[in-house]
Amino acid sequence: ATPVRVGVIGLGTVGQGVLRLLHENAAEITRRVGRPVIVTDAATRTPSRARDCKLDGIHLWPDAQRLVAEAEVDILVELIGGTGVARELTLAAIARGKPVVTANKALLAEHGNEIFGAAAAKGGVVAFEAAVAGGIPIIKAIREGLAGNVIDGVAGIINGTCNYILTQMAAKGQSFGDALADAQRLGYAEADPTFDVEGVDAAHKLAILAALAFGMPLAFDAIAVEGITAVTPQDIEIAKVFGYRIKLLGIAKRHGGGVELRVHPTLVPDDALLAKVDGVLNAVVVHGNAVGQVGFYGRGAGGDATASAVVADILDIARALSADTRHAVPALAYQPDALRPLPV
Ligand code: HSE
Repeated sequence: ATPVRVGVIGLGTVGQGVLRLLHENAAEITRRVGRPVIVTDAATRTPSRARDCKLDGIHLWPDAQRLVAEAEVDILVELIGGTGVARELTLAAIARGKPVVTANKALLAEHGNEIFGAAAAKGGVVAFEAAVAGGIPIIKAIREGLAGNVIDGVAGIINGTCNYILTQMAAKGQSFGDALADAQRLGYAEADPTFDVEGVDAAHKLAILAALAFGMPLAFDAIAVEGITAVTPQDIEIAKVFGYRIKLLGIAKRHGGGVELRVHPTLVPDDALLAKVDGVLNAVVVHGNAVGQVGFYGRGAGGDATASAVVADILDIARALSADTRHAVPALAYQPDALRPLPV
């Protein structure tokens, strides 16, 4: 079958993860989509990165603008981060009628109203599972799995770097600076880690979650934000004595006709679920009027976890491009070489 062709812009931690995942899981992916999904084109601002990646057979473009304007691809994946060039590239891709997959929460939180508006006007697609909570499929969960509910609130740990730092300070007595350096080395932190520690990254994600949960425009500027830079080891110790953990939470609550939006360090009782979410893990709790409380938990940052979400979006679009659209929910298709149950 004709392959679905993917262009990847940005070969940092997440971009490299996406290349690796599409390659390693190619057989399973082909079975799921019914066609192979391959990266045919890529662009990076850091040529040394290109040498680190397995780029056999991939056309490397000298600049991202040209890739977006000229590459013969079915899906464009924006992984360069930032809100300047990324905005231009995303709008150019939409104008060219190409479906876009992005992990860029800053871009969507700050320019999402313009970007989703442009996509809607063109009948285009902008998919963003990877923009919130890394590998946790929270976007699809709220948009699809909880679509039958009126959602009253969303809250959670949505910055892996801050959760990692707070965990290391609490459990290992590590200093803030050393823990941050580790989070950067492990590929969790943003290119500018002030976005993490000042709560800005969590606020970007909260704006996206709230837009989705409450059907409101993106309202990043309306969020009250406080990061973790003022949290001291003494604060953590004292909280512990009284039976609390300190966690950076993003909270969005419906109140009548409005929504309260805030990000700040929060005292969480030791026996609460969120208190047990440590290290780079994220957790999001959603309250719907029919389902009650539902929780989601998993790796919220890092190349492979985030690539898992990017690839999920690529496959959603690849399936839609290939599908018989009379069936919104695909039937289970059994393969002749399907796995057999093992005797127990
Ligand atoms: N810097 C982000 C975090 C990456 O630490 O959660 C994932 O969005």
